[in-house]
Amino acid sequence: DESISLESVMAEFKLSNTTLRRMMSHMSDNMDRGLEKGLAKSTIAMLPSFVPELPNGTERGKYIAMDLGGTNLRVMLMEIEPGEPMRTKQFNTRMPNAAMHGSGTKLFDYIAKALADFLIERELQDENLPVGFTFSYPCDQTGLRSATLLRWTKGVTATGCVGKDVVKLLEDAIERDGRVKVSIVALINDTVGTMVAAAYEGGGKCDLGVIIGTGTNASYMESSKNIKHGLASATEEYLHKEMIIDTEWGGFGDRNEAEYIFTRYDKIVDSKSDHPGVNSLDKLIAGMCMGELVRLVLERLCENKVIFNGQGSKLLSTRNTFPTKYISEILHDDCGSYLNTRLIMGELGIEEFSFSDMLLLREVCITVSRRSANLAAAAIACVLNRVAKPYMLVAIDGSTYKYHPFFNHWVTEKVRELLNPGLDVRAALIAAIVSRVKRDEE
Ligand code: BG6
Ligand code: GLC
Repeated sequence: DESISLESVMAEFKLSNTTLRRMMSHMSDNMDRGLEKGLAKSTIAMLPSFVPELPNGTERGKYIAMDLGGTNLRVMLMEIEPGEPMRTKQFNTRMPNAAMHGSGTKLFDYIAKALADFLIERELQDENLPVGFTFSYPCDQTGLRSATLLRWTKGVTATGCVGKDVVKLLEDAIERDGRVKVSIVALINDTVGTMVAAAYEGGGKCDLGVIIGTGTNASYMESSKNIKHGLASATEEYLHKEMIIDTEWGGFGDRNEAEYIFTRYDKIVDSKSDHPGVNSLDKLIAGMCMGELVRLVLERLCENKVIFNGQGSKLLSTRNTFPTKYISEILHDDCGSYLNTRLIMGELGIEEFSFSDMLLLREVCITVSRRSANLAAAAIACVLNRVAKPYMLVAIDGSTYKYHPFFNHWVTEKVRELLNPGLDVRAALIAAIVSRVKRDEE
């Protein structure tokens, strides 16, 4: 390489507000086209969720929530009484690789078994409880209980599911399992779930539900008169004044319309991913690729003797050996001892490193994750500028956002800079699910 320095490499990740505003304007155009014609004319699908209103906290009942996220499967029993804290019991497991990358039948059998085991353990197998299924992949919905999988994103490749009705796939698997009786009442995207949960806790208000986890995405309330795509087959019961739209903003960039943001590292990450060319913004912002981006930068800095005296390790040169959680751990480090950083060096097999190497490593983690926070903030501000209420409430959830020590601060600060004059957003972006889970643990 020509002359490579830390500064020159880090400069590739710096985005000015002018660039972020340019991106917001492109995203907003795509959102208009998505509302008009969906994916046919836009990289941002703008999918109707068939959820016409937010809860206000007076709802009651007993139901099962199932949640297939980016990396985890959760089954929860929720008992809701107005004015009382939500009572929940939950089962949580990391999805095994075999289920994510095998046949769709295997994936849904795994989910159905987790549900049945959970219900049987609590002797609820015959109660025909209502099940809400949070499914964090893009679906074309024609009602709350009907959702055709448009494509897999993030790290799932299970065969035989795209183009199928996900509710049916789950019902069939529950029937094959044969041990329990339930009714699937709704399938919702995780961002819709985040928005609904935040509204429940916040007395009916939430303007944007955001996930920054393995992938990234957001939902907001749109007036039905603007939704020209995806409501054609909607039955009377769904024709309300408004409906939550699942933006699927993770697809932004898929038709090369955001070339000006991609670095050489982003291009490598994309080409080696499970779904090259699919969900570009996910790969720039979210946790699935953030660690790998840091690793690619370190590898290049090392090859150019900027770091580790040019002596890396076999692992440092191997794909996917730097999980995103390393970034949070390094940035959580106490700057006296650098304990986490030292442990991670050990795990990477890097034997000799100086104090300044540790500082460089920290700087790379900051720069890469700060770009991600800036891009997330631009996406958030883009939707908020469209919603354009004087005072807006945003709920954010997802592992990347939750575990990174500065992400919340960076996002809040940047959203404020990018909002149109006269608009404001609640200072502390609330993380609805976090507070709920914390309460369960108490
Ligand atoms: C969880 C939500 O808290 O965050 C899920 O309940 C969502 O619905 C998830 O998918 C994001 O998960 P991850 O593993 O991608 O951070
Ligand atoms: C991906 C999925 C989207 C989901 C998001 C966050 O972008 O396509 O449906 O909401 O990840 O989990």
